[in-house]
Amino acid sequence: MDSIIVTGNGPLSGSIPIAGAKNACLTLMPATLLSDEPLTLTNAPRLSDIRTMSELLGSLGAEVSTLQDGQVLALSSHNLTSQRADYDIVRKMRASILVLGPLLARFGNAEVSLPGGCAIGARPVDLHLKALEAMGAELELREGYVHARAPGGLKGGIVDFPLVSVGATENALMAATLAKGMTVLNNAAREPEIVDLARCLRKMGAQIDGEGTGTITIQGVERLNGATHPVVTDRIELGTYMLAPAICGGEVELLGGRIELLAAFCEKLDAAGISVEETPNGLKVARKNGRIRAVDVATEPFPGFPTDLQAQFMALMCTADGTSVLEEKIFENRFMHAPELMRMGAKIDVQGGHATVTGVERLKGAPVMATDLRASVSLILAGLAAEGETIVNRVYHLDRGYERVEEKLGNVGARIERVKGV
Ligand code: UD1
Repeated sequence: MDSIIVTGNGPLSGSIPIAGAKNACLTLMPATLLSDEPLTLTNAPRLSDIRTMSELLGSLGAEVSTLQDGQVLALSSHNLTSQRADYDIVRKMRASILVLGPLLARFGNAEVSLPGGCAIGARPVDLHLKALEAMGAELELREGYVHARAPGGLKGGIVDFPLVSVGATENALMAATLAKGMTVLNNAAREPEIVDLARCLRKMGAQIDGEGTGTITIQGVERLNGATHPVVTDRIELGTYMLAPAICGGEVELLGGRIELLAAFCEKLDAAGISVEETPNGLKVARKNGRIRAVDVATEPFPGFPTDLQAQFMALMCTADGTSVLEEKIFENRFMHAPELMRMGAKIDVQGGHATVTGVERLKGAPVMATDLRASVSLILAGLAAEGETIVNRVYHLDRGYERVEEKLGNVGARIERVKGV
């Protein structure tokens, strides 16, 4: 298994291009299942999660070709051969559940294994299932699979989500495009990835209103056509790399970055004493002299502070002046990076959904273990700020969500290298 070695070495400077969003691409790809015409996605990120989704769609008979070094995905579902998503692929990635809504909407039946994915809490799929039931689906859970049927097709319905779920909103939105009549999604997720999906579906001929608000209305249509769509910028990759100069000093421009993707996060950076400026090409982030200020953070659905940046922000708080409290409100058990950061000298006390971080002057390099996708990159960020060498093991998690991390950080002056494992 590969490892990444980071050696803390002071200020960074230069620019980092931000890729298309993994989480947007993972919901745009299954949208191909809704139509027999081609769907082309540009600005796709080159990640193992994207390859897993390609494999899953391929197992259903969809054609997926990668062009332009993986940045363009050409998808076609004109000749699907199966409506069954097997455990062997689904277990690798929770987003696999996103094939359920489209398959059911187009074919009236689907079998999808219950998913796996990052080990961050229980992460059930009950909200996905309830939304489809509200559209007339008949569901049965047998032998680890969801068996879904909609004889005569899905029908529009009112879906009241008891809590905000990104994935359940995406599944319901896709399914509703081909349901008969009108569907209303109340308490829908408002993430930029949902807005991106709605825009792509609209290009395919779907009738959707209200994306980006808490209520999305969809008027079902008979069929959808093909489209070409650029994947929105990855706001989590953006926030992660914004933290690199914040944590070890310097000035870095994030190409393609926009404040509106991360307004709550930018406010916290400002409070910590980091400057964020819009430029014609993106965002420029600079750390002034002196220590970072300690800032409290609570994760929330969009437009709040993203849970997917909590681990990375904790790495920043480890060397802040003072004590900060980080509250995780989306997922239980999402502080697995804390004990690893403590191996590097951080002072963190985790009690339930709260982590209290008391900043230290300097972290010290150590061998650490990546436990999930965002935790892995938080350890790399901490390594940039640490004295000596940090060896991050089990980086396969990282490769699920960050393309060419060594190259991107190396180009702005970080000392970072990958050591190939056996
Ligand atoms: C997506 C993102 C993930 C991000 C998360 C929250 C993708 C591929 N992944 O995950 O990176 O961390 O949004 O921003 O886009 N829940 C239920 N029942 C359900 C579904 C969810 O109880 O049926 C709970 C979850 O356990 C969690 C909360 O709802 O506590 C929010 O999860 P959700 O928004 O669904 O996350 P994902 O779509 O899985």
